[in-house]
Amino acid sequence: MTDKTRDNGKPPAEEPPLLQVKDLKTYFFTRRGIVKAVDGVSLTVRRGEIRGVVGESGCGKSMTAMSILQLVDKPGRIVSGEVWFKGENLLTKSRREMSAIRGKQISVIFQEPKSSLNPVLKVSTQLLEVLKVHQDAGRPPRQEEAVRMLKEVGIPDPERRIHNYPHELSGGMAQRVMIAMGMACAPDLLIADEPTTALDVTIQAQVLDLIRTLRKERGMAVMLITHAMGVVAEMADVVTVMYAGTAVEEAPTLNLFDEPLHPYTRGLIASIPVMGQRKERLEVIPGRVPNLIDMPPGCRFAPRCRARIEHGLEKCTVEEPPMIEARPGHLVRCWLYEGEQR
Ligand SMILES: Nc1ncnc2c1ncn2[C@@H]1O[C@H](COP(=O)(O)OP(=O)(O)OP(=O)(O)O)[C@@H](O)[C@H]1O
Ligand SMILES: [Mg+2]
Repeated sequence: MTDKTRDNGKPPAEEPPLLQVKDLKTYFFTRRGIVKAVDGVSLTVRRGEIRGVVGESGCGKSMTAMSILQLVDKPGRIVSGEVWFKGENLLTKSRREMSAIRGKQISVIFQEPKSSLNPVLKVSTQLLEVLKVHQDAGRPPRQEEAVRMLKEVGIPDPERRIHNYPHELSGGMAQRVMIAMGMACAPDLLIADEPTTALDVTIQAQVLDLIRTLRKERGMAVMLITHAMGVVAEMADVVTVMYAGTAVEEAPTLNLFDEPLHPYTRGLIASIPVMGQRKERLEVIPGRVPNLIDMPPGCRFAPRCRARIEHGLEKCTVEEPPMIEARPGHLVRCWLYEGEQR
């Protein structure tokens, strides 16, 4: 939100966002050069909301999440920015403090549930381990509680399933177990990085449904990372569209689909398969995401942008556009909207 908007007499938002990422930059210092994986990302997640983060492979979605959690490994490093969570800048926290926050207030689930579970331990052992961390010391957690956790995430026959090893579970079941483990600490924020990509379509819908139900019942906020516009449309309250390490558009979901502003977002929406409608082939955006070592000057999307050519905009290959609020609450980083700032 710009200062201008505030001057327009709109009341400021009542509560500061649960999570506020400001101009975050995470670079990988490789022998081939500096990979600018996250290059000036700003986004917020409010309490209880689902923030969708969407973009093609390699645009920096996971690295944004890993940076928020401070799980970036060498040769990567957070070079600048701020990550405010409940009034504190997480980037000033020590390793130990961060690990406590990750265990108690922010939960994470990843794409490959099975690789996140320990293959040699039974589900029961892993659940009890998590419960032990989150309960008052002194009282050993009971198996009934672990069974109840599995029941809550919709695992049928939990009394039996709890004795399974991860390899005995289907992908969907394993993801439910991961979610159950993530919920044990009653997190304020769940970061779900492609939580359903590895699952088949029906199971995908069930797991998304589960996330939606849990956020409703627990009032928890979710940062939902996905490359699928369809998932965002169905799940998110607000969306951030990322391209080549930066956010290019941000809006409430309905507004985004109603009037996508950025040519890249329009391309993404056009490529969603429509049920019952047979297309010769899905519309895909021609070209590829630029090499994050040698970013083109100007707008990062310019080399692939049809609108730039149609409108004969020369500025696009020279100067990077700023993020502006082109419609109320709807931000875009594109020269097409120059002068439309509110
Ligand atoms: N260890 C590393 N060394 C160099 N570059 C890296 C490293 N890890 C990630 N990157 C780069 O960071 C960029 C962003 O990666 P990231 O995993 O965040 O993408 P993503 O949007 O999550 O993609 P996907 O949809 O495929 O998961 C990529 O271009 C990737 O090549
Ligand atoms: Mg990723």
